[in-house]
Parts: sequence; structure tokens; C-alpha cells
Amino acid sequence: SRRVTVRDIARAKERGERWPMLTAYDAMTASVFDDAGIPVMLVGDSMGNCHLGYDSTVPVTMDEMTILTAAVVRGTKRAMIVADLPFGSYQEGPVQALRSATRLLKEAGAGAVKLEGGERSAHQIELLVQSGVPVMAHVGLTPQSVLAFGGNVVQGRGDEAAQQLLRDVKAVQDAGAFAVVLELIPAELAAEVTRSLHIPTVGIGAGPDCDAQVLVWTDMAGLTKWPGRTPKFLKQYADLRTVLGDAAKAFAQDVVGGAYPDAEHSFH
Ligand code: KIV
Ligand code: NA
Repeated sequence: SRRVTVRDIARAKERGERWPMLTAYDAMTASVFDDAGIPVMLVGDSMGNCHLGYDSTVPVTMDEMTILTAAVVRGTKRAMIVADLPFGSYQEGPVQALRSATRLLKEAGAGAVKLEGGERSAHQIELLVQSGVPVMAHVGLTPQSVLAFGGNVVQGRGDEAAQQLLRDVKAVQDAGAFAVVLELIPAELAAEVTRSLHIPTVGIGAGPDCDAQVLVWTDMAGLTKWPGRTPKFLKQYADLRTVLGDAAKAFAQDVVGGAYPDAEHSFH
């Protein structure tokens, strides 16, 4: 069996087939999703929040991306592995972007990279694609700009912002991106974008009419600890935080009370 390729992704849009994407940050979790048939996994810089304990994606480094991407690649056989270019690893220009992407392909074994920005990142996308690096773009809410946005607010609202978003997706498509993430934009705008592009849209908080959907796996599985209420777009498909917490409490109780290990779980 071979890995999912950009050609498979293009074919899915032609056939009108939707597909799921999940993030992954370690080999074991990635192997679960690979066995579950998730065709594309994103080693997102959301690892900053979910895995490394930072309070945004901004501090994530190329070394961290490279190490965790390699782990996800090792844990999978079939999925296409997309690795995020972290903040500061491509904004200087196309040459810096190519140097960073090269590391993720050669050292970590990624099958594609993702970077944030529409028109503003078109030159980077162009050089990457010309060099043979498949690129997934990412527009709407772009978390690496959280300091400039002043928080996580819905993007593309109002005519001017919607027009800019349409220019952004056109720019990344023209630059050669094979797909584009639409994060936190109105469903109607995402539907219009999806109709207007020949490359697939991957929605997160972008309504039901995108070609694909992505969620951060710890959010999807109910492991993330939310300070307030969960985001409106999020559906939690499991309650891992409770399951794991209960397992830890039961283990602790058994150890403290002397119930574990018993004779059955000991060598004689
Ligand atoms: O880093 C990430 O998890 C992402 C997805 C939310 C698209 O960029
Ligand atoms: Na990201």
C-alpha cells in the first residue's frame, strides 16, 4: 500500500468526494488515525498549544516541527503527512521558505508543507511548488498572526474582507497550492470560495460546504482543557479527558490501597 498523494486529493475534488484531516503530533496517535483510514494528517504548529504547552503557535521552532513530523511519519503507512511551516520559518521570503520546507521533507519525511497567508505568501508558495514541494495554503484566521489579530475572531465578515479573502484564495491557487485551509470564516463565504476554486478547501469553523474538514485531534477527542466554553464550530467525538483521568485515578487508588499489582500481575 502506498501513501495518499496530491493526485488522489485532486481526484477527490473532481469526484465530489469529501475527506477528513486530523492533526497528529506523535507516532502512536498517528498510527491510530492511520488505521482508522484518515487519509491526510497535519503535523500542525498547534503542537505549540496541544503538545508543548505554549500559549500560542508563535514560539514553535523548526527543530520541534522536524522532530514531531518525523515521529508522525514513522507511525503511519498510508496517510499523506502535511507539516506546518512554523512562525518565522518562511516570512523572510521564498528562499527561506524553501530551506525550511526542505528540512521537513528531507529530515522528517513530510509529504507536503502548509503555510499561512494568501496574497502575502504567494511568492513563497510559487518557489516551493516550482521546486517540487506540495503546498497547502491557509487563510482566514491564521493563528501565527494572533498578536496582530488581537484574538481568535471570525474573518472575512463584511464585503471588503470577503473580497480580500477571494483574492487570497485565488492567489494561492494561481501560485500552485494543492489545497487551502479556510479557518473561521462564514459558511456562505466558504461555500462561495469552494465553488470558485479547482483546488479543494479544507474547512475548520468554515461551515459544511468545504471539500474537506480538519480538526485538531485533541479538540476532536475531548482531551483539550478549555479555559471557557468550547468553540462553536467544535464537535467532540469522545471524552478522552474523562477516560484518561478516570484511568489515572483508578491506578492511583489501586497503588495506594495495595490492590495493584496482585499475584496475577506479578512474576513468580
Ligand atoms: O496547526 C493546526 O492545527 C492547523 C489547523 C487548525 C488547520 O493549522
Ligand atoms: Na497551524
